[in-house]
Amino acid sequence: MRNRNHSYLLVTGGAGYIGSHTVVELMEAGHNVLVLDNFSNSSRASIEGVRKICGKEPILIEGNIADEELLQNIFKEHRIDSVLHFAGLKSVADSVSQPLKYYIENVGSSLCLFDVMECNNVRKIIFSSSATVYEPAGEQPYSELSPTGPGNPYGKTKLCVEQILHGLAVANPNWEIGILRYFNPVGAHPSGLIGEDPKQYPNNLMPLVMQTAIGRRKKLEIYGDDYDTPDGTCIRDYIHVLDLARGHLLALEYLERHPGIHYWNLGTGKGISVKELVEQAKEITGTEIETQVVARRPGDSPIAIADPRKAKEELLWHPEYSLVNMCADHWNWQRHHPDGYQ
Ligand code: NAD
Ligand code: UFG
Repeated sequence: MRNRNHSYLLVTGGAGYIGSHTVVELMEAGHNVLVLDNFSNSSRASIEGVRKICGKEPILIEGNIADEELLQNIFKEHRIDSVLHFAGLKSVADSVSQPLKYYIENVGSSLCLFDVMECNNVRKIIFSSSATVYEPAGEQPYSELSPTGPGNPYGKTKLCVEQILHGLAVANPNWEIGILRYFNPVGAHPSGLIGEDPKQYPNNLMPLVMQTAIGRRKKLEIYGDDYDTPDGTCIRDYIHVLDLARGHLLALEYLERHPGIHYWNLGTGKGISVKELVEQAKEITGTEIETQVVARRPGDSPIAIADPRKAKEELLWHPEYSLVNMCADHWNWQRHHPDGYQ
């Protein structure tokens, strides 16, 4: 037995993009953190970045959340108070071509984690969900009560895990569950020490914009400019990853006072079009980001904007960072790490 004197927050996927920024937030708030990550989409270097920012580092265990024996050992050896569950796969396109893999990785692994939590009487969890759980053609902005109905297997795995957690809360009132539905996380820690480092072809717009600005890509393809939006390109609700990270801390604190299950959108409530984001990025990076309009990407919603009032009212969470900050911090990370963490 060791480390049973201090309580820990277990952060699954804590070496990843959002996880590493949240680990900084948690550690700066004085929490002891234990990261469990299999590095399938991250590297140890992010934890080194966390150490440089915080002056201390979390306990880091390399392993898979589907490894029940490992999980049992972690819970036996450390006093775990709560779990922040980021680990999972996140490519919409891959989920369409490999749905089974996504159900196994996102749903199957989560079941193993929840089971071990129950066994060890740990029933406090924050889950990384997504705006993709909402019906794609739904009325805007999305509130937490908007109809769900994800249009791809990735979103379905997120909704499925939400439903499993709901079942746990119904079965046992001692569960304290925070479901955070992220909109479009971008940006990086202003130190430039941690950031988003997609291992394969990036799934998302901002890393592609920044990789084009730094010269890793020749041009950015804009997926359609014939949508029913002011400039014809899709509109999203981009949110700085630091604002997102703070939302986790506030959600944890809220659960102390309000057990049960709670859902919160984390977005700014402001819509930004693809063209607007590219224009802002050109200004911040001082580069000419070449673009080419191509066909629409199948499955894209024209608009996805959060109604963040519930998080503002209940968590007293207010996004602090503007689109300028998001682009500047993402660019700062990209300039310091043109090839990611390598
Ligand atoms: P990420 O890929 O950077 O982080 C996920 C981390 O989990 C990685 O470090 C990866 O190595 C690890 N991991 C994956 N499977 C694992 C397993 N079985 N066991 C242990 N570790 C495992 O992704 P991210 O952008 O930081 O996203 C974190 C979470 O937020 C994910 O659940 C994702 O679905 C969700 N989310 C992300 C976005 C987004 O746009 N980034 C939007 C909505 C929701
Ligand atoms: N886009 C382009 N060109 C690109 C990449 C993206 O024009 O090369 C456009 C897309 O068509 C979309 C917008 O940029 O209109 C944003 O696309 P992203 O892929 O960055 O984001 P999505 O809103 O499609 O999806 C993201 C994550 C999901 C998450 C969802 C909601 O990929 O995992 O936000 O949080 F669930």
